[in-house]
Amino acid sequence: MYNSIEELEKSIQGCKKCKLCNNRTNIVVGSGNVNAKIMFIGEGPGADEDIQGKPFVGKAGKLMDMALQGLDIKREELYIANIVKCRPPSNRNPEADEAEACMEYLRNQVLIVKPKIIVLLGSVALKNILGNEYNITASRGKWIEKNGIWYMPTFHPAALLRDDAKKIYFWQDLKLVKEKIMEL
Ligand code: URA
Ligand code: SF4
Repeated sequence: MYNSIEELEKSIQGCKKCKLCNNRTNIVVGSGNVNAKIMFIGEGPGADEDIQGKPFVGKAGKLMDMALQGLDIKREELYIANIVKCRPPSNRNPEADEAEACMEYLRNQVLIVKPKIIVLLGSVALKNILGNEYNITASRGKWIEKNGIWYMPTFHPAALLRDDAKKIYFWQDLKLVKEKIMEL
């Protein structure tokens, strides 16, 4: 258990708990407000994130920012992290052993931030956090309450870049999140 994100960030430096350490440039721990009510969880760093050391700063992040802006949700209201903190080669999905090795950090981030709402971005986040039995297409847009946290699964913003038709669903799901923020 870490007492703060700074402590966690210090202890993660040089982490070699899984094979993703071999190709990374930077470990991407997370960013945003450590007292946020809302946490966003993605999959893992892409090329831009690996270089800059920050989550969701590339194309997918820019698209997400546009949706957040449209709903008047500020990045400063969020804490953003990923399932794995090092970039998987060629942006492949993180493998089960990698996600498992890295989960300790994410678990501690959740314990420190204590979000009321967690937005799960895409299938990898959904399955690793809530279980393999969940399916993103069936689960998106529906609240799941567990241990006092409200989870909203939605499509990963990178999926919207590949398929325009998913954008409307992403928008609808984030609208539900905005409504919940106002309620809590
Ligand atoms: N995709 C993710 O899942 N996370 C990032 O930080 C960037 C792209
Ligand atoms: Fe460590 Fe996580 Fe990076 Fe694997 S992905 S080396 S567990 S920080």
